[in-house]
Amino acid sequence: MTELRKFKMGNGIIGIMAATSEGVIGINKSIPWNYQDELEHFRLITHGHTIIMGRKTYEAIPKNIFANRRGIVFSRNPMNNEDSVVFVKSLSEYFDITKSFKKSEKIFMIGGAEIAHLFLEHKLISSFILTRINHLYSGDTYLNLNYFKGWTENILKLHPNYTIFQLTNHKEVL
Ligand SMILES: NC(=O)c1ccc[n+]([C@@H]2O[C@H](COP(=O)([O-])OP(=O)(O)OC[C@H]3O[C@@H](n4cnc5c(N)ncnc54)[C@H](OP(=O)(O)O)[C@@H]3O)[C@@H](O)[C@H]2O)c1
Repeated sequence: MTELRKFKMGNGIIGIMAATSEGVIGINKSIPWNYQDELEHFRLITHGHTIIMGRKTYEAIPKNIFANRRGIVFSRNPMNNEDSVVFVKSLSEYFDITKSFKKSEKIFMIGGAEIAHLFLEHKLISSFILTRINHLYSGDTYLNLNYFKGWTENILKLHPNYTIFQLTNHKEVL
């Protein structure tokens, strides 16, 4: 765990995802809802920064997103690296790549559930921008919202279709 501890003293990773109150985040390799202004919020916040994701999310998102963002994609069968996208097989490889990042560089973990759970389980995320969708949707992929029990909530934006929260785990802040 020394590596994890070393990493935590450097760049903090910020989660940014959207889920229903039941934790639904995806269906059929896609997102169940389509709120353009919510996507705009994601684009604005992550613009110019690094985004971490799982291979399934990488395959689902429009590739033009990497014109203004550096991507790190987790896969046990990595594809060839591209200009702005690097594949990693493990957290250890991920730390190797990000250890040269400037401390000021922002890194966002954007999902899906497998990668979010990996980072939350290892307590590598103590700040999470979570959009809580106000309506119920069917889904096949769930974010385990139990990870956020005891975290403090600040409302960043109220919208008829969703509320954007800044969740903070003060116990994990270094
Ligand atoms: N609502 C939201 O905010 C949001 C955000 C993102 C995604 N989504 C949705 O969520 C769904 C995808 O989520 P998901 O949980 O199924 O998949 P995911 O987390 O995007 O990707 C899973 C993949 O990541 C790789 N992986 C997982 N753990 C790993 C580890 N420890 N080391 C190395 N690689 C690892 C594996 O890739 P390989 O199989 O290649 O080995 C695995 O198949 C889609 O429906 C997507 O649209 C929603």
